[in-house]
Amino acid sequence: MLSNPLRVAVAGLGNVGVGVVKILEKHKELIADRAGREIVITTVCARNKNVDRGIDLSSYEWVDDATQLADMDNVDIVIELIGGEDGVALMSAKNTLNNSKSFVTANKAMIAHHGCELADMAQKNDVALRFEAAVAGGIPIIKAIGEGLAANELNLVYGIMNGTTNYMLSQMEARGLSYTDILAETEELGYLEADPALDLDGIDAAHKLAILSSVAFGTKTDFDNIHIEGIRNIETVDIEYAKELGYRIKLLGITKYEDGNLSQRVHPVMIDRNLPIAGVMDGFNAIVVDGDFIDRTFYQGRGAGEGPTASAVVADIIDIARGHKGPAFFKPTEKLVAANPVSINQRLGEYYIRLHVQDEAGVIADITASLTLANVSVKTMLQKGNERDGTVYVIMLTHDIRETAMKDALNRINELPSVIETPLSIRIEKL
Ligand SMILES: NC(=O)c1ccc[n+]([C@@H]2O[C@H](COP(=O)([O-])OP(=O)(O)OC[C@H]3O[C@@H](n4cnc5c(N)ncnc54)[C@H](OP(=O)(O)O)[C@@H]3O)[C@@H](O)[C@H]2O)c1
Repeated sequence: MLSNPLRVAVAGLGNVGVGVVKILEKHKELIADRAGREIVITTVCARNKNVDRGIDLSSYEWVDDATQLADMDNVDIVIELIGGEDGVALMSAKNTLNNSKSFVTANKAMIAHHGCELADMAQKNDVALRFEAAVAGGIPIIKAIGEGLAANELNLVYGIMNGTTNYMLSQMEARGLSYTDILAETEELGYLEADPALDLDGIDAAHKLAILSSVAFGTKTDFDNIHIEGIRNIETVDIEYAKELGYRIKLLGITKYEDGNLSQRVHPVMIDRNLPIAGVMDGFNAIVVDGDFIDRTFYQGRGAGEGPTASAVVADIIDIARGHKGPAFFKPTEKLVAANPVSINQRLGEYYIRLHVQDEAGVIADITASLTLANVSVKTMLQKGNERDGTVYVIMLTHDIRETAMKDALNRINELPSVIETPLSIRIEKL
C-alpha cells in the first residue's frame, strides 16, 4: 500500500456532505484497501459551525470560507457539496484546479454550465475533475458510459433523470391524485429542491442531460440548446387516458447525436407501458444507453438521497486516490466537438392532444377543420363528457407529424370559442 494518505477537504455539510463523511469514516479500511492508500478527511466547511449535523466533526479542522480550502497545505483534494451554478462552488472549483489539486463535485448545475471550462483547467494543471454524483445519484452512469462502454460509438441516451417528478407522476397514477394534491404532498415530504422549478420545470433533469451528452458523445456541454418542459400541465385525465391507450407518462431526458447534429430535450412523453423504463416508479432513476457494439443497456437505481449520492462522491475520491486523472469528459478538451443543435421543431412523430371544450354542436367539426388547415392527421379520437358542467375532454392521437404542424394546430384550436383551457400535447416516443 502507498504510504501517503490522500487528504480531503469536504465543503458543504448538508445531505450529501454528511453522507460522504459517514462513508469515509465507516468504510475507512475497506476504502483504503480498494484505493491502495488511506483517505483521510482533514478539513470541513459549511456556513454555520454551530448546526448539529448528527455526526461528530470535532476531529476535523473547520474552515468558514470554501474558497480557501485549495490553499491549505494539509488538503490534497477538495470535495464541493455546496451547490449552485456559480458563486462559491465555482470559485472553489477554479481555485482548486488552478492550485493543481483535484476536485470532486455533485453539482450538476455547475457542471452543466461550466463543465468544459473546468475540464480544461483540470487538464492544463494535470489534475482530476470528477462529478459522478451529479447525474442519477447512485447509478454509476458516467463511469459506465466513459469506461465500460468506451469501445462503442454512442448515438442515443435517454432516461428518467429526476426522481421527484417521477415520484409525482407515479403517485398520480397509483392513487388518482391531481397535480395540485401531489405537489402539496411532495412539498410536505421535503422532496422538492429549494427552488421547486428546478424539479417541476425539468431544469434539474436538463442539467444532467447536458452532462450525459458530453460524456457519451464527446460534445461540448450545451445546456442552452436543450428544449425543456416540465410536468406542471399534466393532469389526472392524461394519466388515465395514457393507461387506457397502453402508455405511461414519464418525464424523460433524451439526447441523440448523429453526423455532428445534437438533439437534446427534456419533456413529458407517453411511452409503451411494457417498456422496462416505463416500470421505473417513484423516486428511482433509470438511464438507457445505445451503443453500436453492445446494443441497448439499461441502468436503474436511486437517483438522489444521502447514501446513493455520497456513494458516488466517494467512488470519485477513490478513483483519484488510485492515481486516475484522465479527462473529465473522457476526451482531451480540445477534442470535444461543438455540435449543431437540432431544434425541437424538427421532431417528426406522434402526439397525444388533450382538449377541454364545451359539449355543444359543431365543436368537433371546428376542431377537425383546424387540424386539416394545419395538415395534422388524426388516427384516434376519444371523448369523455362531464355531465355536471356540460364540458367534454376530446383526446386525439395523431399520425407522424412535424412539431411545427402540431403547434400550428393547437394555436388554431385554442382560438375556437368552445375551447375552455389551453390545449395540451404530449409527444409519443417509440423508444
Ligand atoms: N441531495 C441530493 O440527493 C443530491 C443528489 C445529487 C446531487 N446533489 C448535489 O449535491 C450538492 C449538495 O446538495 P445537498 O442536498 O447536500 O445540499 P444541502 O443539504 O442544501 O447542503 C448544502 C451545504 O452547503 C453549505 N453551504 C451553503 N453555502 C455555503 C457557502 N457559501 N460556504 C460554505 N458552505 C456553504 C451549507 O451550509 P450550512 O449547513 O451551514 O447551511 C450546507 O451544509 C448540490 O450541488 C446538489 O445539487 C444532491
